[in-house]
Amino acid sequence: MAKKPVKDPADPGPDTTLYLIYAGFAIFGTLWLAIQLGSLLTSPRQKAPINPIAIGLDLARGNLKWPIASTVIVLLVIAASIAWVVFKRKKAAKATIGRLAVDDKADYMGSGGAIKSLTEAGVREKAERLGMRLGRDDMPGVPIGKSVADNVMLYGSYEDLQVDIWGPRQGKTTSRVIPAILSAIGPAMVTSNKRDVVDATRAVRQERGSETWIFDPQSVADEPPDWYWDPLAWVNPHRPGFDGRAASLAGHFADGSDGPSGGGDSDSYFTQEAEELLTCLFLAAAVSRRPITQVWEWVTNPLDTEPIEILRNTDRYDVSSEFRDSYHFVASGLAQQYNIDPRTLGGIFGTAKKMIRCLKLSSVRHWVQSRARYDESDVEKDLARMIAEGRVNPDSDKEVKAARDKLKWWIGSQKPDGRKQFDELEFIEGNGTLYSLSLEGRGSAGPLVSAFIEAVIDVAVHKASRSPRGRLPIPLLAVLDEAANVVRWKDLPKHYSHFGSRGIVVMTVLQSWAQGARCWGPDGMEALWAAANIKVLGSGVDDVQFLQQRAEAIGEYESISQSVSESKGGKSYSRSLGSSKTFNVNSLATLPTGRAIVFSSATPAVLIKTVPWWEGEYSTAVLQSLEKHEPGTKAKTEMIDLVNERLSMTKKEPAPGAGTVKEVPSL
Ligand SMILES: Nc1ncnc2c1ncn2[C@@H]1O[C@H](COP(=O)(O)OP(=O)(O)OP(=O)(O)O)[C@@H](O)[C@H]1O
Ligand SMILES: [Mg+2]
Repeated sequence: MAKKPVKDPADPGPDTTLYLIYAGFAIFGTLWLAIQLGSLLTSPRQKAPINPIAIGLDLARGNLKWPIASTVIVLLVIAASIAWVVFKRKKAAKATIGRLAVDDKADYMGSGGAIKSLTEAGVREKAERLGMRLGRDDMPGVPIGKSVADNVMLYGSYEDLQVDIWGPRQGKTTSRVIPAILSAIGPAMVTSNKRDVVDATRAVRQERGSETWIFDPQSVADEPPDWYWDPLAWVNPHRPGFDGRAASLAGHFADGSDGPSGGGDSDSYFTQEAEELLTCLFLAAAVSRRPITQVWEWVTNPLDTEPIEILRNTDRYDVSSEFRDSYHFVASGLAQQYNIDPRTLGGIFGTAKKMIRCLKLSSVRHWVQSRARYDESDVEKDLARMIAEGRVNPDSDKEVKAARDKLKWWIGSQKPDGRKQFDELEFIEGNGTLYSLSLEGRGSAGPLVSAFIEAVIDVAVHKASRSPRGRLPIPLLAVLDEAANVVRWKDLPKHYSHFGSRGIVVMTVLQSWAQGARCWGPDGMEALWAAANIKVLGSGVDDVQFLQQRAEAIGEYESISQSVSESKGGKSYSRSLGSSKTFNVNSLATLPTGRAIVFSSATPAVLIKTVPWWEGEYSTAVLQSLEKHEPGTKAKTEMIDLVNERLSMTKKEPAPGAGTVKEVPSL
């Protein structure tokens, strides 16, 4: 229920005496002017005195006649006044269309020159400073919304990291995520637990020549696995830093919702040991080019010491001699774990198994590994090829045996299966679009989704460090929608601050502060919030403590307060200059849908109107994309549809007998 308006007792109301004085002046002024002008226009001319009292006396005595022209002038003035009032009212009514009560607060918030860094001119200037050459049609930054005070579009620059906190169903996807993806000038990736963003943007990005990849191990968007991403290919045992990457991969499984969070203590001995075990097993699988599910096999059988063998004999797997020592240390650590007492061993392996249990799901498997394995027949084929190339002497049994034995080490490794394998660098350089989808809860592929995001960002950081100014030439946009549910990447807050300087624009979208604190811990959430240059608070948030801080950050405005005291002698009014909070917790909690507040470094908070995709320039393209991909609107275009369409375009003679009705026997 809306609040009942309260009348301010200190408000003296309109000053009627003053209004009457104004009205009197206006009427007498008009009459005076009318008689002066009318007298000049009549024929014969008459001379009206200047003094209004003399005019009145002359008119009464009949010395002066009221000319018709004066009546016309008075009527014209009345008509013009009525027209002006109508025009003003219409203009005022027009200005209030779509205007909300909260918009009045925009007058006390950031506007004009104070928020120049967020305007198109500001972000273009920044892009130039960063050495980016933007085309006239290129989006100058990531769109945020329209400022209420100035009605201009605001953008985040290509080095601003963003965090959005909007309540559920408040327009995060429609007003922030979709416009951001559509305005990306380079590679873009987005995480989600819904298909909405995929349906709305995939065709638009494809039309712009961007290759789209939909990583959908939990069938959120019903996408078939016609390509795969091998996390172990990212670990890459031949590139420096392999142990760090393997540890990060294990970390994603440890942090994931399917990991120990279901009641476990993340710092417990077993959790740490299990994470360490997974790190070593991922390295062993990566060295021997096995699929990631091999790790599941090893974890379910603590008696199988094959991974130690692999890590001790990396020379068999073409690992460069400079890395062999490192693998030797890894093998020692792993051997120590295998030699621990059976009860502890069971605990460690059991915890590790729980962490990676999503790998055993049939739906997940095909997304993260090749379907084909190197086998005996491949050994013989490769041997024959080596002989044909003259690399092995067929007459030397010893040479043939040695070559065969070497090739046999690869049995069980992955080989191409005809599907495309995702390559992070190719994706970045080809300005691709990656949708990484997963659902929370048991069997969640969340760890893989967050590892995937880290893999792409890691390769982007690596590429940036080899690029001029240490930045990607074309920024990579990562929109982490439903971040706390989908991307359980514990180290995200730690890395957040340096992404901006590398040309990696990350936008993290959350439903509440608490959601972020649950995912990254209270300190992690604080760090993430502090590292973001642009923070957007949307409607539907009701976390009192957080809103209190935001109300403080928005600040106060100066206001004149009046007070009235009533006594027998009458009322006495007094005025004083004071300050009032622009927003209090209640007004932030009840922020209407369609409004948000932007906090940006070194600028005052700005009230914005959100701009959903249907109000943007790409609305038609999004509608077409939805029509093509949204389930229930139109089935996906199949090859047969295209064939039928072609056939229907070729005019044919009707078949003999066509159009005649045949009787169908009843069943
Ligand atoms: N500015 C707006 N005006 C009118 N309707 C809107 C506006 N923004 C969003 N909506 C509607 O609100 C609904 C929710 O939008 P959207 O999916 O973008 O919200 P969300 O915050 O991403 O939701 P969720 O928390 O479920 O992810 C949609 O039906 C959308 O059409
Ligand atoms: Mg959403």
